[in-house]
Amino acid sequence: ETTVRKIYKETNTFENKEIVLHGWVRNHRAQKEFGFINLNDGTFFENIQVVYEEQTTENYKNIQKIRIGSSVEVVGTLLLTPNAKQPFEVKATKVILLGDSEEDYPIQPKRHTREFLREVAHLRFRTNLFSAVFRVRSLAAAAIHEFFQNKDFVYAHTPLLTANDGEGAGQMFQVTTLNLDKLPKDEDGNIDYKKDFFGKRANLTVTGQLEGEAFAMAFRNIYTFGPTFRAENSNTQRHASEFWMIEPEMAFANLEVNMDIAEEMVKFIINYVTTKAKEEMVFFDKFVEPGLLERLNLVKDASFVRITHKEAIDILINSKVKFENMPKHGEDLATEHEKFLTEKHFNGPVFVTDWPKEIKAFYMKLNEDNKTVAAMDLLVPGSGELIGGSQREENLELLVKRMEELHVPTKDLDWYLDLRRYGGCVHSGFGLGFERLLMYLTGVENIRDVIAFPRTPNNLEF
Ligand code: 4AD
Ligand code: MG
Repeated sequence: ETTVRKIYKETNTFENKEIVLHGWVRNHRAQKEFGFINLNDGTFFENIQVVYEEQTTENYKNIQKIRIGSSVEVVGTLLLTPNAKQPFEVKATKVILLGDSEEDYPIQPKRHTREFLREVAHLRFRTNLFSAVFRVRSLAAAAIHEFFQNKDFVYAHTPLLTANDGEGAGQMFQVTTLNLDKLPKDEDGNIDYKKDFFGKRANLTVTGQLEGEAFAMAFRNIYTFGPTFRAENSNTQRHASEFWMIEPEMAFANLEVNMDIAEEMVKFIINYVTTKAKEEMVFFDKFVEPGLLERLNLVKDASFVRITHKEAIDILINSKVKFENMPKHGEDLATEHEKFLTEKHFNGPVFVTDWPKEIKAFYMKLNEDNKTVAAMDLLVPGSGELIGGSQREENLELLVKRMEELHVPTKDLDWYLDLRRYGGCVHSGFGLGFERLLMYLTGVENIRDVIAFPRTPNNLEF
């Protein structure tokens, strides 16, 4: 038995040899005396063409009836066809139906809309688009581990269940125990779900950062990579209730170092996927975002622009563009502002630093002006805010003061304050939204199409 990937990568070793393949029928054209099956075995983006003939293939009549979507075993010989559209084909001696596919199989060999495919999320991996997206997702995850492991960062696992609100933004999902027998019922017999976690308040984590900082104060350089939850009831193309985040944290590192690492990482991942997923990336470039590969190639060699929030606002104001929300000093950037900066003005990734303290989290280091914090966001064309990070406030008194100003309970986070009491130091880190990264790498516009089973206000069925 072999695989389609092996055949594509080491074609010569299979020339005129008998091979056995297992896979699924992507397309089937049965003629009178012969037929073609396009087989995909999951190991490679491309299909392989299987030819069968009345003369030379066993059970010819049964093969003709095989439906799209079925799983089959193919036995045959690999023939090189240098003058045809595909470089080789399998001349079948046997095609055995393993698992039949019912008449109403939803994935037909034609263009389906993304909206339709979201309704069959469990089957959509079998299309070219989603086959490409999810292989690139897997490779991008591997790239991230390789990048940090090469630098001896420790991979830290932080809890998903927590009592904290790590961002202080109040966007948490609460978790309750669900012991159906013990939960109280109302007079109609309905269960009262508003119970807590063994008598305590519990949330799904919005960030692994605070625990990541504890790791960093022992290992120096660490990273997390795991699911994150945000109860944002915003129906946008870039927000999901459940997303994956990568959060490196580095002791003895300031905001500049933080940006250097972020920039190096993004370039490393681009290099990694464009080399390891050539076929997929060419597909995105052709069918999803024309010019994608050129856009990514430009990023590999250029230094990312670094401007302060004040400079960003000045650029926006001076542009004289009629934005829907006019940019203002001291205020957050809207999507249209991010788009202008990354897609029009700079045409590439942009770090925006030194944000007004009022619109950023409590743990960020206060700058000497007392008005801004040592924060950085990396904005990119297409997906907008890809990374959010900062140098952390290492001064205990200033941190407590900021928490009080922002009504973050210091009592619950006393353990976090210990990190400043016992050997605190300058440290920094950032969070990379993994789905935003995939949108950036593939050109896919909607976050629902880069996570397998999206969790958004309208998607929980699968
Ligand atoms: O900017 P955020 O909120 O920063 C943090 O969570 C920090 N604790 C990170 C750190 O310094 N360790 O989130 C980081 C990134 C964003 O830039 C964005 O890419 C992504 O996470 N993100 C989301 N992705 C999808 N859906 C959402 N609802 C997201 N919210 C944030
Ligand atoms: Mg942010």
